Amino acid sequence: MKYKKIVISSIQDTLISMGIDSFSKEEIEKILEVPPKQEMGDYAFPCFLLAKKLRKAPPQIAQDLMFNINHEYIEKIEAVGPYVNFFLAKQKIGHEIVMEVLNQKEKFGSLSIGNGKNISIDLSSPNIAKPFSMGHLRSTVIGNALANIMEKCGFTPIKINHLGDWGTQFGKLITAYKMWGNEEKVKANPIKELLALYVRFHEEAEKTPGLEDTGRLWFKRLEEGDKEALSLWKWFREESLKEFERIYQLMGIEFHSFNGEAFYNDKMDEVVELLNEKQLLSESDGAMVVTLDEHESPPCLIKKSDGATLYATRDLAASLFRKREYDFAKALYVVGREQSLHFNQVFHVLKKMGYEWSEDMHHIPFGMMLKDGKKMSTRKGKVVLLEEVLEEAIKLAAKNIEERNPNLADKEEVAKRVGVGAVIFHDLKNDRLHDIEFSLEAMLTFEGETGPYVQYTHARACSILRKGKLEEQGLFSYETYEDDRAWAILSLLMKFEDVIKHAYNQFDPSQIAKYTIDLSQAFNKYYGTVQILKEDDQQQARLQLVKAVAIVLKEGLRLLGLKAPEQM
Ligand code: ARG
Repeated sequence: MKYKKIVISSIQDTLISMGIDSFSKEEIEKILEVPPKQEMGDYAFPCFLLAKKLRKAPPQIAQDLMFNINHEYIEKIEAVGPYVNFFLAKQKIGHEIVMEVLNQKEKFGSLSIGNGKNISIDLSSPNIAKPFSMGHLRSTVIGNALANIMEKCGFTPIKINHLGDWGTQFGKLITAYKMWGNEEKVKANPIKELLALYVRFHEEAEKTPGLEDTGRLWFKRLEEGDKEALSLWKWFREESLKEFERIYQLMGIEFHSFNGEAFYNDKMDEVVELLNEKQLLSESDGAMVVTLDEHESPPCLIKKSDGATLYATRDLAASLFRKREYDFAKALYVVGREQSLHFNQVFHVLKKMGYEWSEDMHHIPFGMMLKDGKKMSTRKGKVVLLEEVLEEAIKLAAKNIEERNPNLADKEEVAKRVGVGAVIFHDLKNDRLHDIEFSLEAMLTFEGETGPYVQYTHARACSILRKGKLEEQGLFSYETYEDDRAWAILSLLMKFEDVIKHAYNQFDPSQIAKYTIDLSQAFNKYYGTVQILKEDDQQQARLQLVKAVAIVLKEGLRLLGLKAPEQM
C-alpha cells in the first residue's frame, strides 16, 4: 500500500543517513507494526534490532529517528520508549484516496499484473443427466469470482465449462432408456427422469447378468459414432444443458466454452501417440498407464483393457487443446479437493511429457458443503436441487423485503439479486478449503456477515446520496477525516488494492468477501453515529466519503458475482 510504503522508505532513508544501510524494505516491513490503539498512531517501528548496530539504547534511537524523519504524508512522529509511532496525514491522505475512488470509479483497485494474458478457468463442469450438486455450485461460484479477480488484475479470463458428458455411464443410460424410458417424461423433467433411469439401471444390473455388458457395448458404439447412440446422447445432453442454463442465468454467469469431455473424443489418439513416442506408457493388467512412482503416486490410467479412454485421458487432451487454443499464462481447475490426486497425476504426466507449462496449471480445491454436519449427497433420493435452493432463497429474500420495505419498486428483481447473492456470498466468505454448513436462514439475514448485509449497506449509502447533493466541484475542507470513525473507513479504502492482490495470489475470493464485511461494518458505525447530512462546511467531505464507500462496496460485490441494488 502506497502510504505504508512511504513510511517504510522514510525509515530506510533515515537509517541510511545514520550510517545503517543493511536494512532492506522487506525487513523494515516485517518489523513495522500496526499499534493496537488508534491513538498510538497508524504504524509503530520498534528499535530493538538496531541497538547492537548503533551501540545505542533503543529509546535513544527512537528519538533520533523521530527528529530526522520528515515527509508530507506523515503528520506527526512520536518516540515512545523504544518505539517510533507514525501518524499519517489524515486529511491529506483521506482526501487523496477519496478522490482516487471518485475519479476511477469501478476501476479503482485495478492492477495490471496480467498484461492481457489469458488464464483459462475450468469451472462448474456438472455431469449431464445428473443433478447440479452443491460441489458444482461451489465450483461455479468460486470459479466465477476468480475469473473476475483475474480480470481485475489485468488478465483475460477464459471460462470453460468442462461438462461431464462422456463415459461408460452414457452407455448405461442409453441401455436404460431403451428398456424403460419414456420420451414425454424425459422432456418434462429431464434430469429427474434420466437420474431415475440411471439409478434403475444399477438396481436391475445387480439382478440381471449381462446388463452391465450391454451398457459397456452401448458406450463403445457411442465412441465409434453409432447413429442411434449418438442421437440419444445428444438429446440427453441438450435437455440437461437447458436445465443447467436456467441456473446459470439465475446466477448471472456466462461461459466462453461448453467443451466438455465428449469434445475431446477425437483428440485422444494424439495423447496416446505422444505418450507412446516418449515411451511413457506401460502395461498393467491389460490397461495402459503412465507410472508415477517417483512422485509416490499411483499410476495414471490412460486406456482400459477394452480400449476405452478415461477421465484423465480426456483431461490430458483438454490441456493440450487449451494450451494451443488459448496459450494460457495460467490454467486453473476449480474442482473439489477429492479430485486432488487426479489433477496431480495429470500435471505430473504433462511434466513427464516435457511440457514446462504444466507448472502454470493449478488445481484450486475447495471443501464440502455440509448439512447438519454431513455431506450433502445427490445420491439415493437425498437430492438437494440447487435450483430449489435458489428459489427458496429468493422467496425468503422477498419476504424480508416485504417486511422492511413494502413500497419498494422492482421488488421481484431485488429479491432475486438478494436471494441469489446470499447463496453466493455464503459460499465465498469462508476460506476456500473449509467445509461449510448449509443454512438458508443464516445466509439471508440482513445482519451478521452475509451478502444481504453488505448489499443493504450499499443501498443505505445510496440512499444518503439521494438525500444529500454531492457537488461536482468546489474547494471543500476535510477536517472531518481526522475523526476516528471516518479514518477507519479511509484506512480500509486504502487497502482495497492489496486485498485484491492477495485474493489473486492465493486464488482466494474470501479475502474480498471479508473485506466487504469489514468495510460495511466500519461504514455502519459511521452512519450510526455521525450526522452525515448535517449542513456544515464538512458535509461535502462526508458525502464524498459515502460515495467512495458505495463505489468500493459495489465493486467488491461485483468481483464476487453479486449485484448491488440501489434500494432494498
Ligand atoms: N464433471 C466433473 C465432476 O463432476 C468435474 C470436471 C472438472 N474438470 C476437469 N477438467 N476435470 O466431478
